[in-house]
Amino acid sequence: MRTSDHTHCRIACLPGNEPLTRALAESLGCEVVELEHRRFPDGESYVRLHGDLSDTSLALVATLDRPDDKIPALLFAADLARDIGVRRIGLVAPYLSYMRQDQRFKPGEALTSKTFARWLSVHFDWLATVDPHLHRYASLDEIYSLDSEVVQAAPALTDWISNQVADPVVIGPDAESEQWVKAVAEPENLPWRVITKTRHGDRDVTMHLPDLSGLETHTPVLVDDIISSGGTVAEATRLLVSAGFKAPVVVAVHGLFGDRSRELLRHAGVSRVVCTNSVNAPESDIGLSTLLAPAIARMTGLSDH
Ligand code: R5P
Repeated sequence: MRTSDHTHCRIACLPGNEPLTRALAESLGCEVVELEHRRFPDGESYVRLHGDLSDTSLALVATLDRPDDKIPALLFAADLARDIGVRRIGLVAPYLSYMRQDQRFKPGEALTSKTFARWLSVHFDWLATVDPHLHRYASLDEIYSLDSEVVQAAPALTDWISNQVADPVVIGPDAESEQWVKAVAEPENLPWRVITKTRHGDRDVTMHLPDLSGLETHTPVLVDDIISSGGTVAEATRLLVSAGFKAPVVVAVHGLFGDRSRELLRHAGVSRVVCTNSVNAPESDIGLSTLLAPAIARMTGLSDH
């Protein structure tokens, strides 16, 4: 249940999330509290929340790329907050991990999306995130049992493309990307198409171009939610370049950039890669704080809208 809490909103973050946390605190008028996290010599986590937090509402900012390094500290912090009297605890995770294992593809595989959702739902009252990978799940409510707000990055991507690319044609590299491609292209009436992709393994995909007649002189802008191995956008780029199109611009919501992904994209012939700052990367040029702040305000009761 959402509560109204105009005076006791606090915000804290796991290391690495400080710039976004400061920007959110400023927009929301929340006080930043220090969450200390370090490792003991044996590698275990030490976690401490500074200040008197009893009877407050706390938003913890922790983007969850490379989650396996972060989860213990995150859950310790949430449990600690509850222990010392925080009334309502929220997680601001601009990138929400473990959404892609949304089906048991082979017998015996862990359905990590569900297990992870259960863990977070035990420790947090609410979650605000940006474009989670909702493919086989229609909404977070199918697996999360907490209040959630999903922010769409599309308006920020549309602005960036409209301001930076002349004559764009927005292209999705696979059927899943259609939801993002439409949301990005339609507000500015940009032409858009979707490629057909078949995945054979973590780094192995084959693709077929859609009908792009009449759009040959446009600049292809590949829009996807995630760049992980880079294999999806690299293959789409190779296909477009060998069909005679200009070097594509790649615009993604979450730039995870696994090993060798940048090299792969460069060799494929991408002209530029840009992502939102849901993950800290050199390519994270599209800011999300103005889209995230209203969602957090709703969750903490700072706004009724
Ligand atoms: C697929 O379902 C997603 O929307 C992305 O296309 C995919 O996760 C990108 O992964 P990678 O960069 O490893 O191809």
